[in-house]
Amino acid sequence: MSLQLGDVVPDFEAPTTQGTIRFHEWIGDGWAILFSHPKDFTPVCTTELAEVARLKGEFEARNTKVIGLSVDPVESHIEWEKDIEETQGQAVNFPMIGDPDAKVANLFGMIHPNASNTFTVRSVFIIDPAKRLRLTITYPASTGRNFREILRVLDSLQLTDQYMVSTPVNWNEGDDVVIATSLSDEEAAKRFPKGFRKLKPYLRLTPQPNR
Ligand code: BEZ
Repeated sequence: MSLQLGDVVPDFEAPTTQGTIRFHEWIGDGWAILFSHPKDFTPVCTTELAEVARLKGEFEARNTKVIGLSVDPVESHIEWEKDIEETQGQAVNFPMIGDPDAKVANLFGMIHPNASNTFTVRSVFIIDPAKRLRLTITYPASTGRNFREILRVLDSLQLTDQYMVSTPVNWNEGDDVVIATSLSDEEAAKRFPKGFRKLKPYLRLTPQPNR
């Protein structure tokens, strides 16, 4: 069965552009994003990797490391990184796993045979400090990802781990959040001293509590 939300993700040892890693040890005490792309020296992937590199500071601000993967060897990643810097004006500043035998790709179900028997699809895994899978998304090869959406989900996960809230449609950092339905109005008033708007008994909005 494929990886499910809440599962502890597989641990593995693999070569990367920044040396061999043991995955769980590499994650350490923070959060991690593991993402795959179909192939080195391809156009959409070239733009995606540069964007992840541009956003590295945003990931670090969320105590999150990023690591890429495709079924190419590390030597190929290193050659391709020169093209990425040349064409995108941004050097790749995070490790890329070399996985030519698809060992890691198969552990995480990144190869979808109906799309391709050999290439990884565009998978994203958000992994929390307990090494549990908190989000997985899969894009087709023809569609580049929006990594700002991944940052938005990280913000939501980190907020909702801390407070008894969830984040509504199109929520962004700073917007109102939804109070857990398990809390009574009295408990909600104590936990959320900025107050709340009760639209329905199950729909109570409060300002983001950590701002
Ligand atoms: C790309 O990155 O542009 C790409 C890679 C594999 C298949 C299709 C597009």
